[in-house]
Amino acid sequence: MFAPPPPPRIVPASAASSLGTPPPFTLPEGDKAARWNALRDIVLNDATCQARVYAGKKVVFGVGHLDATVMFIGEAPGADEEEQGEPFVGRAGQLLNRMIKAMGLERSQVYIGNILNWRPEMGARSPDGFQTGNRPPTLDEMAYCLPFIRAQIDIIQPRVLVALGKTAVDGLLGADRFKTMGAARGSWHAYNGIPLRATYHPSYLLRQEGLRSEAALKIKRDAWEDLLAVMEKAGMPISDKQRGYFKTG
Ligand code: URA
Repeated sequence: MFAPPPPPRIVPASAASSLGTPPPFTLPEGDKAARWNALRDIVLNDATCQARVYAGKKVVFGVGHLDATVMFIGEAPGADEEEQGEPFVGRAGQLLNRMIKAMGLERSQVYIGNILNWRPEMGARSPDGFQTGNRPPTLDEMAYCLPFIRAQIDIIQPRVLVALGKTAVDGLLGADRFKTMGAARGSWHAYNGIPLRATYHPSYLLRQEGLRSEAALKIKRDAWEDLLAVMEKAGMPISDKQRGYFKTG
């Protein structure tokens, strides 16, 4: 049986949780593929997850190489992801793909998952199908889905974890651990003994695109520094060109 290590620290002990935790699940003995397929079935058929997606939309499970050395973890699916049933396929996903490529990897060589398996919508969907935007997941929602991303990490056993944005940091390291993204990034942390680097979420980086301010340039430079640190930790080769991407002068 997969027993999630410590109880999620994101839920204050006193808070009553309305979603609770998923029914305990058992993954088969055997190779990674057997365990991953079993877990995927469990998540895609989970009644709580299914109850949170609209007809025709999909619960979203992780994708990628089961022997990936680098595993990226984001926040939650958006409109494109719930449509296609795959994490990071919209605009943020295209930027993530470019980041992965800049590291010298293909998307198919890494593993990509999310803290949440359904799209957290801002408000109710109107009868004509009009949707409002995404909202950040609640602590309750995160607590419900955490066993699923934890089990994926347990199966993949990547050499390095990359937490994309504050929700991923909070989910994996505890919401009480860092006040801001700025405090979380720039150094190494560990999740169950696996080195974890926090960096900016691709959606946040997209909002800096085209901006020439020193602050925006620093955010982009810092994000690349984070990825260089990940490459180093993962034992990947780093070319002079890669090191020099943001060097000036
Ligand atoms: N943002 C995320 O955090 N995850 C996705 O899958 C897409 C956008």
